[in-house]
Amino acid sequence: AFVGETVMTVLGASGDLAKKKTLPALFTLYRQGHLPDDIHIVGYARTKMTDEEFKQRAIQYIKAPKGFSEDEFKKEIEKFQSILSYVHGPYDEDSGYQALEKRLVEIETKRPGGTRRNRLFYMALPPSVFTVVAAGLRKNNYSTEGGNRIIVEKPFGKDLESCREMMSALKAEWAENETYRIDHYLGKEMVKNLLVLRFGNVVLDQTLNKNSVSNVQITFKEPFGTEGRGGYFDEFGIIRDVCQNHLLQTLSVLCMERPVSFAAEDIRDEKVKVLRCIPPIKKEDVLLGQYVAANGHPGYLDDDTVPKGSNCPTFAALTLFINNPRWEGVPFIMKAGKAVNEGKVEIRVQFKDVTSGIFTDIARDELVLRIQPDEAVYMKLNNKLPGLVTKAVPTELDMTYKNRFSDVEIPQAYEALILDAFKGDASNFVRDDELDVAWKIFTPILHWIDNDKPKPEPYPYGARGPADSAAFSERYGYKRDDAG
Ligand code: BG6
Repeated sequence: AFVGETVMTVLGASGDLAKKKTLPALFTLYRQGHLPDDIHIVGYARTKMTDEEFKQRAIQYIKAPKGFSEDEFKKEIEKFQSILSYVHGPYDEDSGYQALEKRLVEIETKRPGGTRRNRLFYMALPPSVFTVVAAGLRKNNYSTEGGNRIIVEKPFGKDLESCREMMSALKAEWAENETYRIDHYLGKEMVKNLLVLRFGNVVLDQTLNKNSVSNVQITFKEPFGTEGRGGYFDEFGIIRDVCQNHLLQTLSVLCMERPVSFAAEDIRDEKVKVLRCIPPIKKEDVLLGQYVAANGHPGYLDDDTVPKGSNCPTFAALTLFINNPRWEGVPFIMKAGKAVNEGKVEIRVQFKDVTSGIFTDIARDELVLRIQPDEAVYMKLNNKLPGLVTKAVPTELDMTYKNRFSDVEIPQAYEALILDAFKGDASNFVRDDELDVAWKIFTPILHWIDNDKPKPEPYPYGARGPADSAAFSERYGYKRDDAG
């Protein structure tokens, strides 16, 4: 199997993504015994460092697992460090890849049997070097005796055209079945749960459609701003940062038809089919916001790395429609905001009103899937208030994971995805055609924002979003339940 006899190379090993996400995820997978015993991880970057220095840097963000004593943790760290090494070199010259190759062969020939086998390349790199690195690796480091895989992560371009350009450059070097495109939301436990919830429950399978559903909201909220990464952010904006990828991917899994099987291509076929039924977002279906200084926090424009007077949105609400028999006419409201009142990501399906007549003013049912923090599935239902009256009250069927699955450690998204890549399971990675259609949905609205630079509605740091945010949802049929 590909899982064994593998050397993984992390390119961009001294950068933030590698230190904060990739290496801690690899540590956990290794510690839990998910990676093969003979695994070796090579870091590669431009920074000059010795193996020892890299081993120190690599563990900077690794936290002690729950219940581990200091000694036990130290032992695990040392064990992990023993499978790490480092090579430095440029990204744009063969010499770097040749030095990497030398190291890879050294590691591989030390193994029993000594054959050159599988290689997994993880690109924790800025997009400006994606294609040149992909080409350098393909030319100098492609294993001829085993499998080769490359993991890449957004941003994949800035619009349909630039994405296509990048994809075709990558495709010239790496086959689609060797390419694993991460959208880390697909590795989140609750997003992975969508398939089971949708197709493993008659009650949901039968009701998640236009006959029963009034509207769906997918909300992403972060309580911090873009301080420190304003330069990156300003070029992209909140829509490219989370809506076009994370929230749209989540929507596609929520809304797809039942796949023929759990095989990667069957799942991705259904995802792409539902995405193809979504017409480009219209500008009247968009609300943009930008946070301003409040409560002792700086505003977006106060960051020195942000261009003066930038109209870059840090909040967006946008509504999509799916023109297929299941969902036609149901508004899918996406809301994403930085520097808002709380950190939360959830899907909220609001059902239609019950037929009028016997009840007046009864709350709507809702199905809420809380992706983070504190994973939960809960259903808001009306129940008779116990006692000698006949009165309906909104109440909840509540499956909060920490109560229901208290002894299960929920894996981090990157752990789940990296392990999938080792195993060769591409179901939770984004296929080229999905990416293409995702950009088709978003490109017109993004071009309008880039060109016309509409002024975003200001909102104070720590607010729920712009003042019009609540009215925006109501415009698409969302009804607040004031009692609940
Ligand atoms: C990243 C965005 O892709 O996702 C960030 O670039 C955002 O701006 C992050 O903060 C959110 O991921 P998570 O897993 O913390 O919800």
